[in-house]
Amino acid sequence: MQTRAFGAGGPQVSEVGIGCWQIGGTEWGDVTDQQATATLHAAADAGVTFIDTADIYGDGRSERLIGQFLRERGDRERFFIASKLGRRSQPGWPENFTPAIVRQHTEDSLQRLGIESLDLTQTHCLPLEELQRQRVFETLATLQSEGKIRGFGASVETVAEAEECLRVPGLRSLQIIFNLFRQQPIDELFPAAQAAGVALIVRLPLASGLLAGKFRSDSQFAVTDHRHFNREGQSFNVGETFAGVPWELGLQVVEQWRPLVPAGATMAQWALRWCLDHPAVTVVIPGAKHAEQARQNAASSDLTPLSAETHRRLREQFQAEVQPHVRGRV
Ligand SMILES: NC(=O)c1ccc[n+]([C@@H]2O[C@H](COP(=O)([O-])OP(=O)(O)OC[C@H]3O[C@@H](n4cnc5c(N)ncnc54)[C@H](OP(=O)(O)O)[C@@H]3O)[C@@H](O)[C@H]2O)c1
Repeated sequence: MQTRAFGAGGPQVSEVGIGCWQIGGTEWGDVTDQQATATLHAAADAGVTFIDTADIYGDGRSERLIGQFLRERGDRERFFIASKLGRRSQPGWPENFTPAIVRQHTEDSLQRLGIESLDLTQTHCLPLEELQRQRVFETLATLQSEGKIRGFGASVETVAEAEECLRVPGLRSLQIIFNLFRQQPIDELFPAAQAAGVALIVRLPLASGLLAGKFRSDSQFAVTDHRHFNREGQSFNVGETFAGVPWELGLQVVEQWRPLVPAGATMAQWALRWCLDHPAVTVVIPGAKHAEQARQNAASSDLTPLSAETHRRLREQFQAEVQPHVRGRV
């Protein structure tokens, strides 16, 4: 497992992390406690040190399971724990953005995780106006000075929101959607983040599993899985489900790309390798709910980078065949 600096002067983190929305167990079908902790241990055994979660995943369950994992591991400092706040229903928007509630939600996360200090707190897709006000970031800077958190960043939906956050003093990281179906950030956001020394955390690197190449037109999902109930954005931003790519188009493009996957690698590993080939990327955080997925994803760090010619071809195909059809907030 290769490591990368988490922003200018930041600590080294594994370039493949793990996303823990899945182990919340509410928007990805059922995941048992045992399955969740086995997945986390498999990731850690494979060299993963970066763990992404949020206070709302499973109404705190994801953080509680990570807390259990950290206790079982007995080596808290080996891991970089990144959580998010801002979207809890109690008290909800806009009260969630007040200093008192930001502080309360931070304390709640620390308690669930069983740790003294979070490595990173990210704002969780806040409205642009709230990001522009910077009040939440000022509160987070205070919590940082008190040692409750070691840094703060922003998880955003659009490139415009990302650019707005790059203006925030002390911002450590941006979390964005980036994958073979969502290549827009490469041209302007990547150089801007690098120039600012801001770490880039890549979510949905597998487009909710579509880029793993395992689905067929008739694949079914549990009714509690957002890939069943949010395909058209019925519950939240459609861009967070299959990266906003229409299902049939995604399946078709995946078949065109399948022959490019090298022997010995899975399509998921190849898609993660494509993300890692961009030096502006600090860490990819594929979600996983099985130990084997976590192991495979970690191993993408050891794959040979794709050739310049393959990158060029994938870029052209994205621009011609995918980009015009991407839905949701970009
Ligand atoms: N607003 C935000 O800040 C926000 C929004 C979304 C996500 N996130 C974070 O980003 C993380 C990653 O995004 P995501 O989970 O939505 O999408 P993702 O990482 O693109 O897709 C995860 C899904 O891909 C499949 N998968 C993973 N590894 C695989 C492998 N080796 N082989 C085959 N299939 C594999 C699994 O599907 P199956 O379930 O079918 O097995 C898994 O549930 C989340 O866990 C969360 O931490 C943040």
